[in-house]
Amino acid sequence: MGTPFIIDFHSHILPGIDDGSQNLDMTREMLLQSGEAGVDLMVATPHFYGHRDTLEAFLERRGKARRAVGTILTPDMPGVRLGAEVAFYSGLEELDGIEQLCIQGTNVLLLEMPFAPWTEYEWNVLTTLTLDRNLQIVLAHFERYYEFQKDPNLPQRLKELFVYLQINAGTLLHWNKRGRWMDWLARGDAHLLGSDTHNLTNRAPNLGQARDVVKRKLGSAVLERIDQTGNKLLEL
Ligand SMILES: [Fe+2]
Repeated sequence: MGTPFIIDFHSHILPGIDDGSQNLDMTREMLLQSGEAGVDLMVATPHFYGHRDTLEAFLERRGKARRAVGTILTPDMPGVRLGAEVAFYSGLEELDGIEQLCIQGTNVLLLEMPFAPWTEYEWNVLTTLTLDRNLQIVLAHFERYYEFQKDPNLPQRLKELFVYLQINAGTLLHWNKRGRWMDWLARGDAHLLGSDTHNLTNRAPNLGQARDVVKRKLGSAVLERIDQTGNKLLEL
């Protein structure tokens, strides 16, 4: 097996589709910066809000934005794989065609959970999505919900459902925020990294910097495990 691809698992690089990239010029710059930082593949994950959007309309907008990106791709940019950041809502677990929101060619769904304590209701939806809808769930920027959760068995419950956790690069760049998440990554309780880039200023592509921190503090074996996990999920 060769060197694994470096994947940015969470990004808002598609132009004009959500609160991420505003136009093709911004997208071009995001891709160039990511390529320069060594990223091989960006998963484009525009927000999907099923309580106020239809799947059909979303897929059409996403397809149009992806085709536009196709016209500016150059060899020094990462590849782009379509996905979505699917916001939790009541009824998500019954959405027809939900598999079309998975990362292209996989059953991997990037899910944004409520920023509130999760109840048995949320756990039931997670269970249905995993066991009945046969989806591999990755929770987007897990660290952002963590402060709301009180359940001491949280890591165990997530493991039992084979849910993977994605951490935002920006969190690892804050010396006063990253401690816990470095520990989770070191233990293998958190699995994937994403820039969650939205723009070129306060939410710029920063995966490379976060990877440097992981390598420096935890060693290259942890980084390699993160890459292997991402490559396995995307069947690269
Ligand atoms: Fe996001």
